[in-house]
Amino acid sequence: MSQLTIVFISLSGNTLSFVKRLSDYLAFNHSITTRQINIKELDHQTFPVEEPFVAILPTYLEGGNGIDDGDVEILTNPLGDFIAAHDNFKNCFGIIGSGNRNFNNQYCLTAKQYSQRFGFPMLGDFELRGTISDIERLAAIILKAQADFTH
Ligand SMILES: Cc1cc2nc3c(=O)[nH]c(=O)nc-3n(C[C@H](O)[C@H](O)[C@H](O)COP(=O)(O)O)c2cc1C
Repeated sequence: MSQLTIVFISLSGNTLSFVKRLSDYLAFNHSITTRQINIKELDHQTFPVEEPFVAILPTYLEGGNGIDDGDVEILTNPLGDFIAAHDNFKNCFGIIGSGNRNFNNQYCLTAKQYSQRFGFPMLGDFELRGTISDIERLAAIILKAQADFTH
């Protein structure tokens, strides 16, 4: 049985719901066990993640328009701190953004910014809790990226 580690943060529960349903899907269809690290539960504590992992990050921005105006990340910064600590970013094989398309050019912007800041790829995005087709689509992308990273 193979394994997938997911590092994520969820403030209002949408990303948590996606992670749970993605984990069920992977267990049922691919016999993959998931290790879920929910940064919200850690109270700013950090530790090294020794194995490759995927990060899943919702978007919480204050101000800005996503193009030429500054935007300020709020609430999700502990995920960035966790990934920066202990060189954890070196084991991150990619990031998936979540958000709401009503935010137009700021849709999933923080995941794009983390991809640039840390140098890992942005693997995809989904809105709110994600649909079953988002889960199927992103599960395939995650498994391929994990395999490419480890071989
Ligand atoms: C104050 C606030 C700001 C937000 N800003 C953005 C944004 O800039 N871009 C975006 O795509 N979604 C934005 N969203 C939507 C959230 O990213 C979306 O609801 C997400 O599913 C929340 O994930 P969570 O429930 O796991 O915390 C914002 C939501 C709130 C409440």
